[in-house]
Amino acid sequence: MSLTEWKVSFSDRWIIKVKNHVLVCYSEQNSYLLLPRQTQHYMKAALRYHYGTSDQIIVTEFPNPQLKSNEVLIRIRATTVNRTDCGVLTGAPYIFRFFVGWPHPRTPVLGTDFAGVVEEVGKSVTKFKVGDRVWGFDDNGLPSQADYMAYSENGNMLPIPEGISFQQAAASAEAAHYAVNFLKKVTFTPGSRVLVNGATGGIGSALVQILLHKEIDVTATAAAKHVALIRKLGVHKVIAYDSVDFTQLPERFDIVLDAVGKSTFGKCKSILTENGVYLSSELGDGIENLYLPLLTAIRGGKQVIFPIPTDIKASLGYIQELLIAGSFRPIIDRSYPLAKAKEAYDYVSAGRKIGNVMLDLENGKEEVFIPE
Ligand SMILES: NC(=O)c1ccc[n+]([C@@H]2O[C@H](COP(=O)([O-])OP(=O)(O)OC[C@H]3O[C@@H](n4cnc5c(N)ncnc54)[C@H](OP(=O)(O)O)[C@@H]3O)[C@@H](O)[C@H]2O)c1
Repeated sequence: MSLTEWKVSFSDRWIIKVKNHVLVCYSEQNSYLLLPRQTQHYMKAALRYHYGTSDQIIVTEFPNPQLKSNEVLIRIRATTVNRTDCGVLTGAPYIFRFFVGWPHPRTPVLGTDFAGVVEEVGKSVTKFKVGDRVWGFDDNGLPSQADYMAYSENGNMLPIPEGISFQQAAASAEAAHYAVNFLKKVTFTPGSRVLVNGATGGIGSALVQILLHKEIDVTATAAAKHVALIRKLGVHKVIAYDSVDFTQLPERFDIVLDAVGKSTFGKCKSILTENGVYLSSELGDGIENLYLPLLTAIRGGKQVIFPIPTDIKASLGYIQELLIAGSFRPIIDRSYPLAKAKEAYDYVSAGRKIGNVMLDLENGKEEVFIPE
């Protein structure tokens, strides 16, 4: 007796029903998935089966998620493609794979953040109901670059405040969480002078807005062509990094936040005050930003802190308050339809995005908000 009940072939895969399961074989990727038989509905999703470049990405039909009793089914309306997504795609740095899946990605569907609407709730769900608009983020990856995602009601998820669009909500998650995390690691006094390197990035553009909300004196860097954009956020002192080297400024700063990880503690020492603090979003040459915190703490004086990110839900809660108060609005560079996920990853990987890049699942529009 044959175990195969039926099989269907698409251009890129075979779907074979075997006893109580459905076997999906992706010939080009040399991969397969064994899914429960009750999977009858398919959605569009951006997938990859192996760590690698954006060439691995396919946008195709994929079985709808199966809802567990403590989960809600979210119809995704917007999600960003961000620098954490690029790490989830490539599995780099290698240690990241122990969080995202080793040796292969835990889930083929890409994503880390989302904004959408609850369409169904599991039997034991009490915190959310059908129709709620929700947003959230997980730096270890979420299968959110798809029409639907199932997510625990206890996950990093909050209601979207009134007046905030799906795109704005999704763009307030990843980079803003890292910005909040940077600021948690340092102590400010009313007169603190802070320099933010890379104010046009996702993290940098959130950092300067939060610092301004805290009434901190901010100096920021941006490419000359984007100085006006950063001034519009309320930053008065903006240095064009392509014509002035900020590490040679005559001013002294209590805190230097390198949001794009393009400087070093060594180069920034001369612009730090006696007990000034240096933070960078990158590990630095020879992962120096991981061991310099210990060395500088022993030596005393100017310090390095590496902002290891923690407590995403608390960050989202804080950003939620800023969104409601009107003190924070994410910058959105451009949006792509889900079908162009590969192009979105290529654009973001180049390291030139301004604020955030969206996948628009609500209108499926390709739009440029900030021209190059
Ligand atoms: N530590 C962590 O947990 C963590 C988490 C997420 C991300 N990261 C890292 O944090 C960094 C920032 O992330 P992000 O999402 O904010 O980056 P991003 O949005 O991709 O940053 C791009 C921006 O950086 C600007 N830029 C490039 N070179 C610059 C320079 N030399 N000086 C000043 N600005 C420069 C670009 O402006 P122009 O194109 O106009 O030059 C562009 O607007 C990335 O390196 C990422 O890998 C770290």
